[in-house]
Amino acid sequence: MKVLFATSEAYPFAMSGGLADVSGALPKALRRRMVGCRIVMPLYSCVPDDLRAKMNFITSVTVPVSWRRQYCGIFEAHLNGVIYYLLDNQYYFKREGLYGHYDDAERFAFFSRAVLEILPHLDYKPDIIHCNDWQTAMVPVYLNLFYRHDPLYSGIKTVFTIHNIEYQGKYGHELTGDVLGLSDQQESLISYDGCVNLMKGGIQCADRVTTVSPTYAKEILTEYYSHGLDRILKPLSDKLCGIVNGIDYEVYDPSSDPAIFAPFSSADLSGKAVNKEKLQDMLGLPRREVPLIGIVSRLVSHKGFDLVKCVFEDMLKADLQVVILGSGQWEFETFFYQMAQQYPEKVALRLGFLPDLAHKIYAGADLFLMPSKSEPCGLSQMVALRYGTIPIVRQTGGLNDTIRDSGDGQGNGFTFENYNAHDMLHAVWRAIGGYSDQAGWNILVQRAMACDNSWNRSAGAYIRLYKSLLS
Ligand code: GLC
Repeated sequence: MKVLFATSEAYPFAMSGGLADVSGALPKALRRRMVGCRIVMPLYSCVPDDLRAKMNFITSVTVPVSWRRQYCGIFEAHLNGVIYYLLDNQYYFKREGLYGHYDDAERFAFFSRAVLEILPHLDYKPDIIHCNDWQTAMVPVYLNLFYRHDPLYSGIKTVFTIHNIEYQGKYGHELTGDVLGLSDQQESLISYDGCVNLMKGGIQCADRVTTVSPTYAKEILTEYYSHGLDRILKPLSDKLCGIVNGIDYEVYDPSSDPAIFAPFSSADLSGKAVNKEKLQDMLGLPRREVPLIGIVSRLVSHKGFDLVKCVFEDMLKADLQVVILGSGQWEFETFFYQMAQQYPEKVALRLGFLPDLAHKIYAGADLFLMPSKSEPCGLSQMVALRYGTIPIVRQTGGLNDTIRDSGDGQGNGFTFENYNAHDMLHAVWRAIGGYSDQAGWNILVQRAMACDNSWNRSAGAYIRLYKSLLS
């Protein structure tokens, strides 16, 4: 079985969020189980030089983007036993950042088309193309419309994974012909609610649709979570399923993580205390034996920051410290900035996407707050568990599938159900109460660290899915 994993970002070449972690780890886990899996992604200018040095030029092809004919260089790199194809076109990808350009639709239409155009030139003929999010949603559409007649393509199956249904790739109808290269008759495939919707096209044309947790798979069939797509998903729900992500146990390993201050394991937690002290020093928080709550997140509403903002000062009445790392909406950045100014002994803020500091927070904090309004899977809560940092989460999406309240003496975190600031506050109080009983807390930390969220389990579920498609 041969899988080609098409993605707009993958660790360590280019990353902006959880999709990069998944793209970096799942193919590796599949390979370990003897399933062929290679990755195809754009060659952005942010790909670091040491990784560029590993790339070899294979050939170049011409890719149609509607009436345009665009150059596409194919580079190959071998990393951790996985083969990556990086597709080069400097006009589209030699830009600042990964997304957010005025012509993103054209850039990823090019990429989606290129994924199919390069196949005759590779020494790898995939049985399955696994696409991810709106950026690759046009692959199944183009495959069905323009390539099926060719024997090289006729048997290929497609899987489309939704990592976040909020980002659908919505554009005006004027793009249909001029950019996407579809005729008026073909437009219905990508037309939805009065505009062009690339994700809708992917959902409709792929053989299977997956999302990144079983709870989210149910949630996106409802209006509250689907951002309008429940009406297309419901009739197709037979081909939809949820498979929870794992995390890369080599990248996130407290016993060998080079980014943290001191290694530790569940057998010897002394290093965790060192990590906390050094983190407090680094952030200018006084070194005190109070619970330290970590937040590592994009600072946007759907991550639950409305709730945090609403009761933050109530929270600070307790003896605790909070460290926030992230960037996002101005409203939340300025709010946390003010709080850090006003309560320097309790609140530390660092703005940005800083993986190194993120690891230090996972290792040094006692608690990890993630009150998301919606969370397709969420990786941070699993990383926190691995570093013995107890998550406080809202029961939604993947948070619901990976974190269980410890109130019953079995769970690995603290949870609340409704999207309500005082319900969240109550969960924080319960966590702080738990922390004050150190013996009980240590048992909870042990239980958290014993959870298995490695890719092993989930890779098995993907393999079953692929097999079912090919049988
Ligand atoms: C998106 C989702 C996140 C998920 C990640 C990887 O970033 O918001 O919940 O963990 O994709 O699937």
